[in-house]
Amino acid sequence: MADIQLKDLVKSYGPTEVLHHIEGDINDGEFIVIVGPSGCGKSTLLRMVAGLESVTSGEISIGGRRVNELEPSARDIAMVFQNYALYPHMSVRQNMAYGLKIRKLPKDEINRRVEEAAEILEIKQYLDRKPRQLSGGQRQRVAMGRAIVRDPQVFLFDEPLSNLDAKLRVQMRLEIRKLQQRLGVTSIYVTHDQVEAMTLGDRLMVLNGGYVEQFGTPIELYDRPASVFVAGFIGSPAMNFFPAELSGGQAALPGGGVLPVASAHSGTATLGLRPEHLMQDPAGPIAIEVELLEQLGANTLIHGRLPGTDLSITASVPGHANDGTGSIRRFSVAPELTHLFDPATGKRLED
Ligand SMILES: Nc1ncnc2c1ncn2[C@@H]1O[C@H](COP(=O)(O)OP(=O)(O)O)[C@@H](O)[C@H]1O
Ligand SMILES: [Mg+2]
Repeated sequence: MADIQLKDLVKSYGPTEVLHHIEGDINDGEFIVIVGPSGCGKSTLLRMVAGLESVTSGEISIGGRRVNELEPSARDIAMVFQNYALYPHMSVRQNMAYGLKIRKLPKDEINRRVEEAAEILEIKQYLDRKPRQLSGGQRQRVAMGRAIVRDPQVFLFDEPLSNLDAKLRVQMRLEIRKLQQRLGVTSIYVTHDQVEAMTLGDRLMVLNGGYVEQFGTPIELYDRPASVFVAGFIGSPAMNFFPAELSGGQAALPGGGVLPVASAHSGTATLGLRPEHLMQDPAGPIAIEVELLEQLGANTLIHGRLPGTDLSITASVPGHANDGTGSIRRFSVAPELTHLFDPATGKRLED
């Protein structure tokens, strides 16, 4: 078991800095998800922790020990990748045992660990098969098994589920979570998928262009996003944003409509409203000119515009709806569920 500290971590390739002064303390046994769009530096950061990329400046420590100069093999970590990287000519058993054999563990000990991991992952009946005789989900389990048998201090995952179909991905993500809770091994998991991040992580580190936008629990990120970027990234369907004029605890929307907000700020701000927080209210201040309905069964997404503007807005209402194009629906939002951001910096305005 180990905690991990990232201190003022910078990564440059030649003159280009791709990770900028990353700070993060990860507790022993925690499951951390690094999430952000493609190219934001997730894999680079994970590979630095693994020792597969050098550190340009700053420090990484694992279990209180500086590891910057340590070889990957000396860091006591195990990594699971997107392409499972199984040896095709070896059986599942041999694939799982390989790393332990290299490290010259006694044969009994290797067998015991492989059997135990296979039991946990429910792949005992496949131990003598070759990888090509397995489904994608089973192969992913073998790749996890290979990490588990090493009994490492830290698990690192780089988008391990992105090759699986949607249904299997949901199932495997629950299994990974259960497994991590059972083993209690400190884990860092990289994904571009915000739903995967929200469901897996004790805490999420949201990366954008090599900067940490926010590091917090899923609920902190959802309830109090630190920036427009986090607000738009976390939550589905995405938050609506409008330019608004603030004064006297109220926000005036383009095209009319004034709603109460929990803020004493004045001047122009970016107002954020989550689709699921728009409450149907015939006397409400927010009007939607309906353009399109998405009927999802349990709820309906109403897509439209603020009347008289070209600003899009989406509301999520429970149950079914059958509004025609061009009809007007009205909504209100509880003041404490409104979000306000500085239009220049994109940062959250404190209440
Ligand atoms: N070996 C490399 N040489 C130069 N630039 C790189 C190298 N590896 C990654 N990068 C750049 O670093 C940035 C972050 O990449 P990466 O960590 O792979 O992003 P992510 O995993 O979030 O998609 C990208 O702009 C990428 O082009
Ligand atoms: Mg990547």
